[in-house]
Amino acid sequence: MSLSTLFEPIYGDGAAQQAPRYAAALAAFARLYGAGDVAIYRAPGRVNLIGEHTDYNHGFVLPAALDKDAVILARPRPDATVRLANVEEGYAATAFDISPDIPPDAVGAWSNYVRGAAQALARTIDRPLHGFDGLVVSAPPYGVPRGSGLSSSSALTVAAAVTVAHLNGLGGASYDAHFAGIMDHFASVLGRSGHAMFLDCRPMADGEYRTEHVPLPEGYRLLVVDSGVHHRNVGGGYNQRVAECRAGVGLLQARFPGITHLRDVQEQAWDDLAADLPEETTLAALRAQGVALDDLPGVSDDAVLRVRPRCRHVWTENRRVLAAMAAMIAGDVATLGGLLNAAHASARDDYEISCPEIETLVDAAREVDGVAGARLTGAGWGGCMVALVAAEAAPAFERHVVECYRAATGRTPGVFVCRAGPGAGFVGNVGPGAIRE
Ligand code: GLA
Repeated sequence: MSLSTLFEPIYGDGAAQQAPRYAAALAAFARLYGAGDVAIYRAPGRVNLIGEHTDYNHGFVLPAALDKDAVILARPRPDATVRLANVEEGYAATAFDISPDIPPDAVGAWSNYVRGAAQALARTIDRPLHGFDGLVVSAPPYGVPRGSGLSSSSALTVAAAVTVAHLNGLGGASYDAHFAGIMDHFASVLGRSGHAMFLDCRPMADGEYRTEHVPLPEGYRLLVVDSGVHHRNVGGGYNQRVAECRAGVGLLQARFPGITHLRDVQEQAWDDLAADLPEETTLAALRAQGVALDDLPGVSDDAVLRVRPRCRHVWTENRRVLAAMAAMIAGDVATLGGLLNAAHASARDDYEISCPEIETLVDAAREVDGVAGARLTGAGWGGCMVALVAAEAAPAFERHVVECYRAATGRTPGVFVCRAGPGAGFVGNVGPGAIRE
């Protein structure tokens, strides 16, 4: 089997660099389970190009699947057992039987993503499923950077689902996005090389979701820079943003009965909506007004809810996603870059999810020639920046951003030059010695 046939459709001109990674993994697989044929599966991480904190408001997102992925090498077994190892040190081997009720591993253990995917499939398929001997290969730099908002855990979950489905002869529909959550799994399953994927997070009447592949500008790379910081308030802050949006919906229901998400008022003029949305309020004050919001974990009665700016971010961000898509289709990089920058400003000022470290990265990125735009990506309060950078400017970008970030914070950021790659799937079957280092 020629290496280029196997890897080029996935990794493009980065295919050659993948050979040592796969060769080492195949050798490790043979040591663990013996020589013979091996099936290769993969699922990518994703970066959200634009459309932040819109998904839970039933809005629009525009993520891209990356060429960083979780890989599973597998050999089917006649029974239901999954024997699972991981090439990384500290990731202990484990085993379980596939069934609709797979006992979980310890809390936080890596194998739970594989167990969860196998269990989800077993629950939807009305027959026993075969297990496999498997080896997981997901370490950066070729794997998805962890804890950075690039969906490394979704990648492993989707890779496991693809493995179980394919080894059991189940069609694509069995492991498509229905099985999974919203943006992250969708992007990992449905990504396309050189494209971002527009996703409308509001299900249609038949329960399907509308997606559209949009070409990324040719000659540009997605530069993802990991700040390495994760501010403490990620969980609490995220829940509070959800509450603030729900408060907006609750208040707007007086005038727009029956609405359930901010998406329902996307067609109204913003000034008209703003009149009903207070700059600040609290759950207690809302209750006194007859707006009861139940089921809001971790938000205290007297926490200040900044309803108007939060809703303004969501309303304007949805528009920016549509405009970004139009700019990409028109090949208008300048407009696209401007929209990325505007999305960042809105996330920083209206949604208040940036932090000094991310501001340092964004400021530094925009100083480099060839950078179309840069913004925080993911939940916020740390995590990553994404920048759209002319391919030839990538080395200068990396030098400048690393230097500025070190000078300001004393930390070295992780810089990942990414292409938009294809979604999850079966890569191929290889025999012993098929891929040499
Ligand atoms: C996290 C969540 C996503 C999305 C983003 C914000 O990454 O996993 O679903 O809500 O935050 O856009």
